[in-house]
Amino acid sequence: MGYGVAVVGATGQVGSLMLRLLREREFPAREVVPFASERSAGRVLEGAAPDGGDLTVQALSEEAIAGFDLALFSAGGSTSGEWAPRFADAGAVVVDNSSRWRMSEEVPLVVAEVNPDALAAHHGIIANPNCSTMQMVVALKPLHAAAGIERLVISTYQAVSGTGRAAVDELLDQSHALLHGRAIEPPQAYAHQIAFNALPHAGSFAAGEDHTDEERKLIDETRKILGDPAIRVSATCVRVPVLTGHSEAVNVQTREPLTPERARELLAAAPGVEVVDDPAGARYPLAIDAAGRDEVLVGRIRRDPGHERALDLWIVADNLRKGAATNAVQIAELLHERGLIGPARERAAV
Ligand SMILES: NC(=O)c1ccc[n+]([C@@H]2O[C@H](COP(=O)([O-])OP(=O)(O)OC[C@H]3O[C@@H](n4cnc5c(N)ncnc54)[C@H](OP(=O)(O)O)[C@@H]3O)[C@@H](O)[C@H]2O)c1
Repeated sequence: MGYGVAVVGATGQVGSLMLRLLREREFPAREVVPFASERSAGRVLEGAAPDGGDLTVQALSEEAIAGFDLALFSAGGSTSGEWAPRFADAGAVVVDNSSRWRMSEEVPLVVAEVNPDALAAHHGIIANPNCSTMQMVVALKPLHAAAGIERLVISTYQAVSGTGRAAVDELLDQSHALLHGRAIEPPQAYAHQIAFNALPHAGSFAAGEDHTDEERKLIDETRKILGDPAIRVSATCVRVPVLTGHSEAVNVQTREPLTPERARELLAAAPGVEVVDDPAGARYPLAIDAAGRDEVLVGRIRRDPGHERALDLWIVADNLRKGAATNAVQIAELLHERGLIGPARERAAV
């Protein structure tokens, strides 16, 4: 027995990791079906099944989506916009990785360690937060509970894998060309060359907007997840030539006083967090150390000399794991543990 699970976007970076995590974490699935675009239909994913067997990629169609209990989506906003409600109407609970449904009032936006109780109110679609927001709120939750967060000033240093597989290829191709003295192809994934560069342009600018959508997500999603619309947030999102692992410098101004020592204790006891904080020994969170791990690493915890109630933190996590696939699978596990998949979700929705 077990659940029928669809993974939409199963050939992508996040989707293929979801398949792996469902298998490694032994999620109780009776079958797992990978979906992707028409381009990939028929492709065989070797060893991707829960029992280690092969799976064949399906294209999305009304007939193919019937009969699932759970659908994990990681195929971009337009696919989620069209197909997540159809899966939900057909009886599945959808956990969606795109930004399409995150700010909808009736859609819970959930980080497993931060606001799992929000799941109970789901109506068939649950949103997985943006990767840079996800890792940050895991670290901020215990500080918010202890001292109340008044204001955040955030600068991100985001890896190219956050943009998708094509951006990873572009960074590698550009680096290779430049190291061999060749000119690069015109950039496709970003407005400028990403190799050996830093772009203050993570996400995109809508017409007339002076913030990127990535910066807006950090502002809006942080308030929704922490359940506190009064938190003031300033964000600058920067793309850097790192393959995997988002790093963030976060200035946290609290309502009540909070010492760096107390913050370190709170963070050391927080679920999903590992404190790495020995600057004299050159030990602090690094993207290359976070890559491949599920924990959020926090270090450089120190008093902001410019404000008596502010601390500075350096927060790093694997954007494909905790920032995306791991949290989606953790949500699936919580839904299972809390009886929120299948008939029980009808009760939760009323
Ligand atoms: N990367 C991250 O750090 C991160 C973090 C949080 C959230 N997300 C979100 O997760 C999603 C995927 O990210 P990714 O990095 O895995 O991207 P990716 O590697 O580019 O993969 C995209 C996936 O979507 C599928 N897809 C594209 N168009 C489709 C369509 N019309 N119908 C069905 N499937 C379609 C692709 O299938 P084909 O192989 O057939 O093209 C592929 O499986 C995005 O919504 C992204 O915003 C990503």
